[in-house]
Amino acid sequence: MANNNKSIHGEWSSRFAYILAATGSAVGLGNIWKFPYITGENGGGAFVLVYLACVVAIGIPILIAETMMGRRGRQSPINTLTTLSTEAGANKNWHFLGWMGVIAGILILSYYSVIAGWAIAYVIKAVFGGFSSDAAIVKTSFDDLIASPWQLVFWHSIFMIATMSVVMRGVRGGLEKAVQYLMPALFTLLIILVAYAMTTGEAYFQGLSFLFKPDFSEIDSDAVLIAMGHAFFTLGLGMGAIMVYGSYLPSGISIFKTSLYIAGADTIVALLAGIAIFPLVFANGLEPGSGPGLIFQTLPIAFGNMTGGWLFGVLFFVLLVFAALTSSISLIEPFVAWLVENKGFTRIKASVICGVTTWALGVSVALSFNIWSEFTIFDKTIFNFLDDLTAKWMLPLGGFCIAIYSGWIMQRKHVQSELDMPEQQFVIWKFLISYIAPAAVFLVFLKVLGAF
Ligand code: TRP
Repeated sequence: MANNNKSIHGEWSSRFAYILAATGSAVGLGNIWKFPYITGENGGGAFVLVYLACVVAIGIPILIAETMMGRRGRQSPINTLTTLSTEAGANKNWHFLGWMGVIAGILILSYYSVIAGWAIAYVIKAVFGGFSSDAAIVKTSFDDLIASPWQLVFWHSIFMIATMSVVMRGVRGGLEKAVQYLMPALFTLLIILVAYAMTTGEAYFQGLSFLFKPDFSEIDSDAVLIAMGHAFFTLGLGMGAIMVYGSYLPSGISIFKTSLYIAGADTIVALLAGIAIFPLVFANGLEPGSGPGLIFQTLPIAFGNMTGGWLFGVLFFVLLVFAALTSSISLIEPFVAWLVENKGFTRIKASVICGVTTWALGVSVALSFNIWSEFTIFDKTIFNFLDDLTAKWMLPLGGFCIAIYSGWIMQRKHVQSELDMPEQQFVIWKFLISYIAPAAVFLVFLKVLGAF
């Protein structure tokens, strides 16, 4: 009983188009900005290993499940959950899961956009003046940017405007084509950066051993929660983003195979970013745990030193901004799609409403790096609070519910017909989604909350 419904919002033009868009959603600041800095803060190798294990045992099964639910429901996550619950004879309250996703998406985008704004500021820095090869100058330049409320709000606004302009045009307009060139280009630049990292000699090996030599005494349960949360964040899971992309996926395309490609590409980009950055950290006597500024304090040094560094520097930050853009649109698409479906808004009106709300919240995030840095919620700045709330709690909780829903609530025959994968693989997926993924999330939550 394959499902031949189509989404009212349109469909991806091909399998390749979907892979590009979904990879665009996965690959973003999470891989290049966040992965290196949280790895640095959490001691390196052991953290990376836990993160990789979470991607394989929890992330990929949930990626498959979330996409599958989207394609079966063919609507915004909120309405998809209502439709699927009717089909399965389940409680209608499941649609609250869709709402939690919408809220998580807005909260994430509010700070994501501020960081993407830093990347835009770096495009301009790169164009005029290039970068210095002196680590101290590079650091001062970053600190100056962060200290300026006006600059942060300005660049954040530019990024939100860019996001809204893409979202207004709908899933297919422009996005598909852009990603086709941007992804390979970003990949090429990362390879160039890795090649540069190799020229740092001793530091290159220090970087590699930091990343890949696990020392489990470096991590505690909170680090495990951060690694697990990041598996969700980097794949764009747990809040309906990939569910809504799945709802535009034509039937007959293998969700299993495409999910493997997406997760594979995402993981490779993150590891390459790590390999490019940590040698620079050690070569310049920087602190791996320097926090969210890590890539902005390291990569410019590489561009400042290498031949052709001006061009590569400009290109790199341009591509980083685009990678962020192809992720940010998936963060508000669930809300936009819902406003179009339920309120009858045009895409333009829906995008403006979502964009303005997110922008306003983002202003408070921008200020939390300077004039509001003393203002805290549970001892955290607004930025840290929102990041923790979403990446450590909301996404894994959303993922947990998706696992329970697809593993226990949906009828097996519906799941099987939608996934249409070889029996053996289906059995493995079914086991991971019904038992391993939910149990892992649950246990990590309990441990961090101090239950044992
Ligand atoms: N995956 C993106 C990144 O790594 C961010 C992102 C896009 C995201 N869509 C998402 C995170 C949905 C969580 C949920 O940069």
